[in-house]
Amino acid sequence: MNKKTILTILKKKQSGEKITMLTCYDYVTAKLISSQDIDMLLVGDSLGNVKLGYENTLSVTVDDMIYHTKSVKRGNDGALLITDMPFMSYEITIEDAVKNAARIVKEGGAEAVKVEGGIEIVDRIKAISDAKVPVVGHLGLTPQSINKFGGFKVQGRTEEGRRKLIADAEALEKTGVFAVVLEAVPEQLAKEITERLKIPTIGIGSGRYCDGQVLVVDDMLGMFTDYTPKFVKRYAEIGETIRTAVKNYIDEVKKGKFPREENTYK
Ligand code: KIV
Ligand code: NA
Repeated sequence: MNKKTILTILKKKQSGEKITMLTCYDYVTAKLISSQDIDMLLVGDSLGNVKLGYENTLSVTVDDMIYHTKSVKRGNDGALLITDMPFMSYEITIEDAVKNAARIVKEGGAEAVKVEGGIEIVDRIKAISDAKVPVVGHLGLTPQSINKFGGFKVQGRTEEGRRKLIADAEALEKTGVFAVVLEAVPEQLAKEITERLKIPTIGIGSGRYCDGQVLVVDDMLGMFTDYTPKFVKRYAEIGETIRTAVKNYIDEVKKGKFPREENTYK
């Protein structure tokens, strides 16, 4: 597939062509997804939920992110590869932030990193970006702030929240992020932010007017079904397919129907 870069993404904003992104955590899925000419793959720290079975993303480490990024990197054909910086890998000091971003690029092979937050982290974003690592922002329902928010709640519903979200988005753009993910932001507010910014907005649960969309791949494939937010559309029922296949396998082994002659060596 044609190689996508940050320039491809910025050009799409200018031309009004929608930008496509999915999360991805492993080699096989990266091969399957990138065969369809997707713009961006995100190794999201949602891997804490959907791959490691944690209740939230707070326990995910830089090493976890690097491990999964390496796997995705080997299967990816052309998509821009972005990896989340996990909780507390960029909060504490500027030096930490740059070092961890550097590890994700050097060891994992990511081409850009994503961080959650607005005005309060612009110094960290600028330092990472000055160290030649492109950065994606993430605003709205930022799961790493779950304890601060007191749960997973739609953000930007009050006038104060609305103004803060716009100010954060503009601060991120000024700091040099090349795109910003808007998660669970009311549609009209996401539209206003999208119109104000020259960089693309990538929505998840933020309505129809963002410049692009992202979903957690295990959600949209029907693989991860512990809970399914309202904004997810299920494009397949892979979980059900797996259960049926496994059931049939067990039945056939028990009945001596598998393996058959064609599955054996002479
Ligand atoms: O970790 C993740 O999957 C994400 C997306 C939801 C944007 O950050
Ligand atoms: Na994330």
